[in-house]
Parts: sequence; C-alpha cells; structure tokens
Amino acid sequence: MHYAYSGDIIEFMFKIGVVGTGRLSRVHLRHLSRIPDLSFHFYDQEFDRAQELASEYPGTAVRSFDELLAEVDAVDIIVPNDLHAEIAVKAIEAGKHTFLEKPLDVSVVNAKRVVEAAKSAPVTIQVGHVLRYFSMYRKAHDLVQSGAVGKPAAIRMTRGGGMPGGESGWFADHARSGGIFMDLAIHDLDWLLWTIGPATEVYAKSVGAKVGHGADYGLATISFANGCVAHVESTWMDAQEPRTAFEIAGSDGLLDYDSRTNATLRTGTKLEQNHHPDDDPFYLQLLDFVTCAQAGKPANVSIEEAYAALELADACRRSAVSSQPVFF
Ligand SMILES: NC(=O)c1ccc[n+]([C@@H]2O[C@H](COP(=O)([O-])OP(=O)(O)OC[C@H]3O[C@@H](n4cnc5c(N)ncnc54)[C@H](O)[C@@H]3O)[C@@H](O)[C@H]2O)c1
Repeated sequence: MHYAYSGDIIEFMFKIGVVGTGRLSRVHLRHLSRIPDLSFHFYDQEFDRAQELASEYPGTAVRSFDELLAEVDAVDIIVPNDLHAEIAVKAIEAGKHTFLEKPLDVSVVNAKRVVEAAKSAPVTIQVGHVLRYFSMYRKAHDLVQSGAVGKPAAIRMTRGGGMPGGESGWFADHARSGGIFMDLAIHDLDWLLWTIGPATEVYAKSVGAKVGHGADYGLATISFANGCVAHVESTWMDAQEPRTAFEIAGSDGLLDYDSRTNATLRTGTKLEQNHHPDDDPFYLQLLDFVTCAQAGKPANVSIEEAYAALELADACRRSAVSSQPVFF
C-alpha cells in the first residue's frame, strides 16, 4: 500500500501496474476505475499506446516493465497469451500481487513455472477465468453442485464469434494464442473442471490445430471421472454476433442458456427459479482480485485450477493434431 499525505487527510492508494494497453485493457480500466483508492501506471512495448491509455484514465505511462515494477503494489497483465508466464513470474518474484489474463500461458512447461513461483510467494495471484463471475454460469455451477439436475450426464457448451484481431494479428498465430482450445474454449474447460470435476479422456477435432495459424473452430468431447460427458464447441469462424450457450442435462433436470435467444438462465429442475444478470463479470472479477490482494488473502480462483484448465486445453489441442484421444 502507498500512503499519501495531503493536508489533514492521509490517503491510501493501492497502485496497479497495467502491462499491455491494447483492446482488453480498456475493458479492465473501465471497471478498475470504478474501484475506490486505486492508482494506475501503464506499460506497453509501444509507449504511445501506454500514453493513450494514460490520457483516457488518470495514471502514468512508463517506459519499461522494471520501472513499472518499482512503482506498484500489483500488476494486471493483459498481453498476448505466449508472454503470460514470463511476465507473471517476474512480477511474482518482485513481490507484486498478480492478475493475469487467461490462459495461464500457451505452454504447459512455462505455465508450471508460474505455479512454482506462486508456491512460496506471499502475494495474491489470479488468472482471468471470468466465466466464474458471469451470473448465468455461476448460478448454473451452484445449481449443479446443489444437485438441482441430479447426476449430471451430458453437457454442451458453445462459445464464439468472429476472428479476434489483436495487435499485429497475434491471435491467428497459434504459437502465440494457443489456437481455439487454449484461447477460447479454456473459459468453458475451466467451468467444467470447477463444476464437474477432473477429466479422464479427451477427443477433439479442429479446423486449425494441424495448420497452426488462421481462424479456427474446435469441438472437443470430454469424459469426466464422475461419468459425465461434455461437448465443448468453440469458434472464431461465426460471422454473426458473438454467442455463448450451454445445456446441462442430468438425471433430474435440465439447465439451458443461449445468449442469442434468452438473456436469462432457464431451469427445468426441481429448484425452478428465475435468474437475471446482476453486475458486470469483469468488474466483479477485478474487484474480487483487488479485495483479496488488499486483505493479503489467496485469490478465489487458484493458480492450480488455472493450470488444470490449461492442461485440458492442451490435451484438446494435442488430440486435434494427432486425431487420437488423450487420456489423463
Ligand atoms: N477474458 C476474456 O474474455 C478476454 C477477452 C479478450 C482478450 N483476453 C486476453 O487479454 C489479453 C490481451 O488481449 P487483447 O485483445 O487486449 O490483445 P491486444 O493485441 O489488443 O493487446 C495486447 C497489447 O500488449 C502489448 N504487448 C505485446 N507484447 C508486450 C510486452 N512484451 N510488454 C508489454 N506490452 C506488450 C501490445 O503492444 C498490445 O498493446 C490476451 O491474453 C487475451 O487472451 C481475454
């Protein structure tokens, strides 16, 4: 924490260093700037981009990552996926609370380094598995856990829209983005592991995994230790508005949601109830991280969970490349 004396009032400011000031940083800043007593430093490999964000939100643009680390209590890392682990390890080793956009990395080997660095670090570390803060997905998680659908049997999860651009088109280079499973399906994979438990087997197909670049579509069939089967469909090749949907069928009921047809989670369960979206998931996620960091508590989404989601995404990718199932 940083305390500033102004007149009779001692103010405390929690200093956040934003690393990467591209497209998603604007979403983060829109919500971070609603949280009281935060101040910002901005770093981007392109200095003018950091300056641009500093002109939109009060803060200071700096010219190097080391300069940023010297100034802040926490970092918010919003750079291309292949740089996540390297930057996160530096931040954690410098003793900074660390929020890292998903996925943990595109390499499970590099991701393991973050897990190792996190083990002995007295800081809060969270990966942006934002689906856990979407009211529909949280409610569906709670309903499944409370037994509302009985024994979960078959789950379909759908996510996607058009091809994301990214600075210099890095999403289309799968060595940088990880392709559709690591970049996009990972949201649903994390939800499944969180809600259903460990996976035992994956068989996946993809348009782009064998090619390694360009737009991608992926379909993974995943078996879980509790007997449930999930189909996870993700696309960067749908020209319509972005869509998310799920259908969770169990022995005692069905939950379904489709962003294109219905903004409300529909339950066909014994715990019938309406549910409406409340607050923005990015706001809730960042507020949760800041609250935990300020209280010196571990994050509510653990680094081990983020690693497990990446391992499952990597298994999907490997299955799509080899045309073989992958077993855990
Ligand atoms: N949670 C979600 O729903 C969601 C949605 C979109 C993107 N994301 C994630 O957010 C991250 C950023 O995505 P984006 O769409 O903002 O990408 P972007 O290309 O718009 O922005 C990335 C920024 O990082 C900067 N950068 C690149 N290398 C850097 C380095 N070494 N040091 C400092 N800055 C560097 C680039 O100059 C650019 O300004 C990715 O990890 C992506 O997966 C998450």
